[in-house]
Amino acid sequence: MSIEVKNLSFCYNRGTSLEKHAIDNISFSIGKGEFVLIGGEVGSGKSTLARHLNGLLRPQSGSVTIDGKAAGSRKVRSKAGLLMQYPQKQLFGRTVYEDVAFAPSNFGFKGKELDEHVMYALGLAGLDGSVASLSPFSLSGGQMRLVALAGVLSMKPDYLILDEPASGLDPDNRVLLIGTLEKLHRSGISIVVISHQLSELLSLAEKIIILKSGRIEFVGSVPEYLRSAPFTLPEITSLMKELNLAGINVGDDIYSVDDAFSEIIRFFGSPEARLDE
Ligand SMILES: Nc1ncnc2c1ncn2[C@@H]1O[C@H](COP(=O)(O)OP(=O)(O)OP(=O)(O)O)[C@@H](O)[C@H]1O
Ligand SMILES: [Mg+2]
Repeated sequence: MSIEVKNLSFCYNRGTSLEKHAIDNISFSIGKGEFVLIGGEVGSGKSTLARHLNGLLRPQSGSVTIDGKAAGSRKVRSKAGLLMQYPQKQLFGRTVYEDVAFAPSNFGFKGKELDEHVMYALGLAGLDGSVASLSPFSLSGGQMRLVALAGVLSMKPDYLILDEPASGLDPDNRVLLIGTLEKLHRSGISIVVISHQLSELLSLAEKIIILKSGRIEFVGSVPEYLRSAPFTLPEITSLMKELNLAGINVGDDIYSVDDAFSEIIRFFGSPEARLDE
């Protein structure tokens, strides 16, 4: 069970003077339950790739398969959900409720069951049920993004692809989004996040892919990425490395404050335990 991308290439405006090779012979896979981060400079082909992963764009050459079937084909259409970079593009309902209910109602849910699906998806995306009756277009950019996320989550996809999901969110909603992604990942969903800010997701990522001019510049684990890239380390990782240099023997492959906290407590012992001594 996986998404397999094989020798994928895609060119906009093929055969015209505006021809643009956006994806150039890319191959990689996304395993069941894997958490993959995709980075790369502006215009490197990330969004074009994302649109292939859920079958919104069909390969011009090469292939993209989801659990063995062509991405976008009827049998796998609901398996991969894409949160687009510009959420306005995927909102269409007169109300938030109508928007989020679209997929589950297509699956045949009605009445109370449909309400439950919508409220579940809104809650998971961090939105209060009171927004359900509002027009999605009356909301802020960050809230619109969360409504679009709820719409994607309401399909209960096996593969969740998010194109710059944190852009426009305030710090509280960013933390909530990362918590939701962590929860979804723990429940066995494969997650692909496209982001300019890789550092805040390094603690969750199992694989990193960096695109450059439509090609794969790097693919590997987080430690391999941090070793290979001319990359500024996350501040918390730098701190853990400094502690090591000072003779405090804590793990230095730490990318989040929570993990650093646990590691420091492991080294020094918890304050409660020390008070008991
Ligand atoms: N609809 C389109 N028509 C023509 N060219 C396009 C179109 N969409 C994207 N491109 C071009 O294809 C290349 C890849 O674009 P894409 O949006 O996939 O990059 P990206 O890595 O997502 O960029 P960003 O970091 O700005 O989101 C860019 O050079 C872009 O200008
Ligand atoms: Mg993009």
